[in-house]
Amino acid sequence: MEFTLKLSAPATDKTSTVIVAQSGSELSPAGLALDAATGGQLAKALKSAGFEGKPGQSQALYGLPGIAADVVLVVGTGALAELDTRGLQRAAATAVKALANGPKKAVSHLAELDVKGLDLNARLSDIVRASLEAAYRFDSYKSKKAPAHALQQLTLAVPDKAAASAGKKAVAWGEALAAGINRARTLGNLPPNVCHPSHIADEARALAKQHEKVLEVKVLGEAEMKKLGMGAFLAVSHGSEQEGKLVLIEYKGGKKNDAPVVLVGKGVTFDTGGISLKPGAGMDEMKFDMCGAAAVFGVMQALAESGLPINVVGALACAENMPSGRATRPGDIVTTMSGQTVEILNTDAEGRLVLCDTLTYIGRYKPAVVIDVATLTGACVVALGKVVSGLFSPSDELSDALLKAGQQSGDRAWRMPVWNDYQEMLDSPFADIANIGNAPNGGAITAACFLARFTKDYTWAHLDIAGTAWHSGAQKGGTGRPVPLLLQYLKSRSGQ
Ligand code: BES
Ligand code: MN
Ligand code: ZN
Repeated sequence: MEFTLKLSAPATDKTSTVIVAQSGSELSPAGLALDAATGGQLAKALKSAGFEGKPGQSQALYGLPGIAADVVLVVGTGALAELDTRGLQRAAATAVKALANGPKKAVSHLAELDVKGLDLNARLSDIVRASLEAAYRFDSYKSKKAPAHALQQLTLAVPDKAAASAGKKAVAWGEALAAGINRARTLGNLPPNVCHPSHIADEARALAKQHEKVLEVKVLGEAEMKKLGMGAFLAVSHGSEQEGKLVLIEYKGGKKNDAPVVLVGKGVTFDTGGISLKPGAGMDEMKFDMCGAAAVFGVMQALAESGLPINVVGALACAENMPSGRATRPGDIVTTMSGQTVEILNTDAEGRLVLCDTLTYIGRYKPAVVIDVATLTGACVVALGKVVSGLFSPSDELSDALLKAGQQSGDRAWRMPVWNDYQEMLDSPFADIANIGNAPNGGAITAACFLARFTKDYTWAHLDIAGTAWHSGAQKGGTGRPVPLLLQYLKSRSGQ
């Protein structure tokens, strides 16, 4: 789908389809202009169709008199006073979904909507992003593919020429953002027999090849990890036939000596639980246990495509958690790269094991900030549901910045404690630390507290995305979260 920006008169524009909004009972300005040109026929048709202007609703109207367009597509937004970034994204997505089977071109007047806290450029980015997310398909494994989304060109109406030229950057940002989100979704959706650690490593190398000037990739295999003393990471990857990989993607968009932001992603390409085997029902969804790594991958791609002036390192901790004769046993004690010993009481608490050694390893980048992203605990889903990601950080400043980025991008998080009061739940009689607390009590918090023991040398935050990284049920599939939150944070940080 391509986007163009144009001045546009809704009633006289020669286009097959024009998109306008209705907020509750209130037509948008372009909607009112069309209604006037039709002599009130538009409002009348909406009324007889029982259209209420609610979020997620759309109504196509054909053959209205007095206007040049063949079709008017009206999308609901709900009350205008309450319209926020998520509401605008939803309206844009609703419009694009309604046009899945045609036409090829349309003109959208959604950018004129008055949205709380969003200027025109922010609205343009939102519409572009949401349109591309809505047109996303994942059918590479179907022999009979559904036809591709019909819409090839979406013209976004803007008030004047200056806005059209200033808006180009906003469109490009929306495109990069959507590319990152959709890439994360695809990596998540790929079956676990395809998307194993080596596959992610290969994809990272291919990405770097496309963006040679700004990206560099290094991959550590198990032999290198052994030399580095990453006993916790290897305790997870060793039970699998698939070799564990630590994939490092360096993006150099900032000044040479600027300390980077390091993003660490949990990349467990399939989580059986290991010897602490998970129950069978719904286990297929554990292919999504690499969605943290997928999100970091998506962010790195978006950075390269947008050229944001900042240095960022993505570290993808990729391993498969399998039961086998070589798998870790409950009770095994391993030594981490940090020197701390861990008693592995439950092999299903594997995310923190691959993460802790990765968090130690990335200390060598002297990071300005470290953010890890992980589908870490079922307990986080119990605590927060599937609406927001869990945010854990000892830093108020970093927490506030990430919460704000979540609000701004419509990809929200909610802060949870990582207080020392919880640390004693991780005491082990035999090692420095146990890998589980007093499950299920405070399970998301004790997991974060485990990671906190490995992140003392820098400013750190942890996002538990177990509830937000994918949809279950009929809509099963990766969401691409928290790519929007992370990119918004990086964009603000880079001063853009
Ligand atoms: N990948 C899971 C967490 C998870 C479970 C995410 C369900 C999304 C949905 C993680 O590796 C895990 O198994 N965690 C255990 C920890 C427990 C053993 C302390 C859990 O949440 O049950
Ligand atoms: Mn697990
Ligand atoms: Zn897991």
